[in-house]
Amino acid sequence: MPERERTLVTGALGCLGVWTLKALIDLGEEPVGYDLGGDDARLRLVLDDAERRRVTLVRGDVTDGAQLGRALDEHAITRVVHLAALQVPFCRADPVRGALVNVSGTVVVFEAVRERLGRIPGLAYTSSAAVYNAADRSPAPESGGTAPSTLYGVYKLANEGTARIYWHDFDVPSIGIRPYVVYGPGRDQGLTSGPSLAMEAAARGEGYEIAYGGRAQYDYAPDVGRALALAARAATEGAWVANYPGERATMAEVVAAIEAAAPEVAGRVTFQDGQLPFPDELEAKLLERLVGPLPHTPLAEGVRATVEHFRRAALDSGGGS
Ligand SMILES: NC(=O)c1ccc[n+]([C@@H]2O[C@H](COP(=O)([O-])OP(=O)(O)OC[C@H]3O[C@@H](n4cnc5c(N)ncnc54)[C@H](O)[C@@H]3O)[C@@H](O)[C@H]2O)c1
Repeated sequence: MPERERTLVTGALGCLGVWTLKALIDLGEEPVGYDLGGDDARLRLVLDDAERRRVTLVRGDVTDGAQLGRALDEHAITRVVHLAALQVPFCRADPVRGALVNVSGTVVVFEAVRERLGRIPGLAYTSSAAVYNAADRSPAPESGGTAPSTLYGVYKLANEGTARIYWHDFDVPSIGIRPYVVYGPGRDQGLTSGPSLAMEAAARGEGYEIAYGGRAQYDYAPDVGRALALAARAATEGAWVANYPGERATMAEVVAAIEAAAPEVAGRVTFQDGQLPFPDELEAKLLERLVGPLPHTPLAEGVRATVEHFRRAALDSGGGS
């Protein structure tokens, strides 16, 4: 193992990207963020000035192997967390672009690691609960997930297959993590961003209507970031895929947690009927066997911390009057 780890995070300006950077900084690293976008709003929301100074940002595209390879070499990268992807609505709106980024982009990342196995012994990446469909049994076994109901889910399943073959044929170790509904500061786009957008609205004293209901598992973004940072270090052998061990809750319970954190919006956070097209519970025994103990922030606490985070951010930006 190299004396000093330096992890590159693709999709670093996204919600999980910034929380993974934060977790890496907390582990003592000076990580590199690799992202197409120039909008660092989530980075500024999550990292303070001192933390931001410890991050090097590289603007680049995961579908461009030469560009990614240069970033890996110029910064002497020793670990990779691959998150760059288009979420469900963006894949639905532009399936070809979705496949290019989510499927080809992931092959590019595996290939770049394969070419540098001497220095980068493995990688972590995100798959998704979207590899399952509504008819899969609940709790959904970790070995399941074979008939996704969205193109996004099909692309994620392709990522898991890519990882399996890169281990089998080329000895590239990996750990894939399947989050369900990620929530927390920075979760502002995608099919399941409604609860976090409701928390942000509540911090402003405003109501919000969430576009789905039913039961799901809720994964606190800072905890998932920590899991991804640890998974990149733990990926030394095999091609594992693990469900994220989030907290199972109904939408009524999520709303109650928001109203407890912001009583001024009581009765004004509403939600539509309709279960997400995935099983409501995922078996999740494997991840902590692979990466060690993880934080399990209870939903009520994570929601309160998220609302407080948004309130502080509004005050810092002068919008709190
Ligand atoms: N948020 C969730 O609930 C959830 C659940 C399951 C899986 N995931 C997966 O976790 C990962 C991160 O999710 P997120 O919520 O942080 O997403 P996000 O949409 O907030 O961020 C994605 C980031 O990827 C970047 N990106 C897009 N195309 C790129 C390209 N070609 N090259 C480089 N960067 C590119 C974007 O600029 C953006 O900053 C994704 O792979 C997502 O599919 C998320």
